Amino acid sequence: MLPYGRQTIEDDDVAAVSAAMRAELLTTGPEIDAFEAELATASGARHAIVVSSGTAALHCAYAAAGLGPGDELVTTPLTFSATANMALALGASVRFADIDDGDLCLDPARVSAGAKTKVIAPVDYAGQPAKIDAFMRIGPCVVEDASHSIGARLSGKPVGSLAHLTTFSFHPVKTITTGEGGAVLTNDATLAQRARDFRNHGLVRDPARLPAGSPKHAYEIQSLGFNYRLTALQCALGRCQLKKLPRFVARRAQIVARYRAALDGVVRMQTVREGVDPAWHLFVVRVRDRDRLFAALAGEEIFAQVHYPPVNAMPLYRAHDPRQTPIATRAASELLSLPLFPSLTDADVDRVIAAVKKHAA
Ligand SMILES: Cc1ncc(COP(=O)(O)O)c(C=O)c1O
Repeated sequence: MLPYGRQTIEDDDVAAVSAAMRAELLTTGPEIDAFEAELATASGARHAIVVSSGTAALHCAYAAAGLGPGDELVTTPLTFSATANMALALGASVRFADIDDGDLCLDPARVSAGAKTKVIAPVDYAGQPAKIDAFMRIGPCVVEDASHSIGARLSGKPVGSLAHLTTFSFHPVKTITTGEGGAVLTNDATLAQRARDFRNHGLVRDPARLPAGSPKHAYEIQSLGFNYRLTALQCALGRCQLKKLPRFVARRAQIVARYRAALDGVVRMQTVREGVDPAWHLFVVRVRDRDRLFAALAGEEIFAQVHYPPVNAMPLYRAHDPRQTPIATRAASELLSLPLFPSLTDADVDRVIAAVKKHAA
């Protein structure tokens, strides 16, 4: 059985988590600080805030951007619903704009900012960074949902250093994992502080931020927040996985190159833009009868996946009309994600290619 995604856990990952279990602090403390410092270095950002999921990262990033009631967030329908849902969680509204038919990312030419638009949230679909430079020129705060694209670069600059705020997910199918987990990256100290506060109940202990003369034990809840902390055990795993990021990205790239060469002319594939070094989380193909191909592959023990049913067609978003984003709606009906993970062998890839060639016609 071949799933579409799977974590890569090796002996050193297990040893790192075991060692962390015997440390004094199982949450908060040096393991978290070290993971944040290493993540910031790897992604070219001044600040990294690790949190308990990619969803929590979006919630923290949007809160840091000041998104709230009366504000609007603009995003793509071709994403996991959390990208939009976390705006609703803050009392804001969501507007969906259409994607580019080639790279399948939110198209900056179709995004306009009105008086209410507080955040634009492009998604690095499948691991290719969206056109972040163009979004940054529009005006509102840009939160790049980089759940798919840790390790990717745009014009030579790492994802994490491009937008006002960037979010990662460390779910097991992603390029590196902490079981569940995520992170917020930013170069802005004020945004970083707000995200940190939101991660931890809005709780402030720093004497410099408390009334003068506060006793040593004092703390204040200064803003609304949650418990979105990542444990030391997860950070130990994350640190070990982060060291392997270049190897994982490289193996994923090899697999994608093999798929692309063999499936050229057989199925439609995502365009890769000039100046982009993707870090592939997904390998997606486009076929007219996607559901038939999905079923045929399942019959051969190959479990492909659909990324994504459009968010604006979900019952939660019933006030929205997916016909207003026709490119995304069409793409979403044709896309299928084939198996892609580092431990996939060339023989596995060739088996998938043969099955696609047999059934895609
Ligand atoms: C584009 C995108 N955004 C957000 C998320 C949410 O991440 P998590 O599952 O870590 O909460 C995911 C993960 O599925 C995702 O793919």
